[in-house]
Amino acid sequence: MELTNKRIIIIGGTQGIGLATARLAMDKQASVLIAGRKIEKAAKAKTLLGDVQTAILDAADEEQVKKFFTETSSFDHLVITAAGAAAGSLREISIDKAKDFFNSKLWLQTQVVKYALEKISQQGSIVLFSGIVSRKAMPGQLPFTGVAGAIESIGRMLAKELAPIRVNVVTPGVINTPAWNEILPENDIRQYFQDLAGRLPIPRIGRAEDVAKGVIFLLENTYCTGTVLDIDGGLKEL
Ligand SMILES: NC(=O)c1ccc[n+]([C@@H]2O[C@H](COP(=O)([O-])OP(=O)(O)OC[C@H]3O[C@@H](n4cnc5c(N)ncnc54)[C@H](OP(=O)(O)O)[C@@H]3O)[C@@H](O)[C@H]2O)c1
Repeated sequence: MELTNKRIIIIGGTQGIGLATARLAMDKQASVLIAGRKIEKAAKAKTLLGDVQTAILDAADEEQVKKFFTETSSFDHLVITAAGAAAGSLREISIDKAKDFFNSKLWLQTQVVKYALEKISQQGSIVLFSGIVSRKAMPGQLPFTGVAGAIESIGRMLAKELAPIRVNVVTPGVINTPAWNEILPENDIRQYFQDLAGRLPIPRIGRAEDVAKGVIFLLENTYCTGTVLDIDGGLKEL
């Protein structure tokens, strides 16, 4: 059991893919801390998971991130699922909104890794999060496309720069998590999921657990670094 008694910090672990990852890691006897901005989400996650540590943190705020890692004890693995949401084509999106998304996902992950280095084990690992628009061109996804490509490139570079700490990137396709509620009205989500599922090589929308299993693989496999792992039901082949 590679994760037994390992300490894992999941920034963004209070719902969606982060929460599913916390659950699988705890099943493997890891000691898990989940962090997010909203107290209600953290409290709900604690009710679902039981013996988990929680922290309230806005990881887009550099000072808060610095303080969090100064105060935390040493740990083995870091997973960063926290991100904002934004869609829009070049013609329609405001540059400020696009920049905000870069802050909420690209720079958020960068600063979390920077300050985590103080406390992470040299035998440990980091899992960053991208998105399949990095390699599947989808019109209307300007900010996400830029952020996703940047994270994959930075992840591969950091695998060398931070070695022996391992750094890997997970690239989800379309996964049914609460993140979608911030992008589309409920009926539109249902319609989009239904249309897409029928066209995918694996004809269903992804579940948070599908992606969490990939995260656990990367945490456990000590020969994986610089890996970009697609978990997309074949979406990029459409
Ligand atoms: N779901 C998909 O279809 C999909 C597709 C491609 C890529 N991804 C990527 O996969 C990752 C996980 O996605 P998900 O669907 O699981 O997202 P999600 O359901 O929206 O969960 C995001 C989590 O991050 C926390 N969070 C957000 N902003 C934060 C901040 N500034 N500081 C601290 N915590 C923050 C949220 O809690 P609070 O709101 O309380 O802070 C929540 O726990 C993200 O990077 C996302 O871009 C997802």
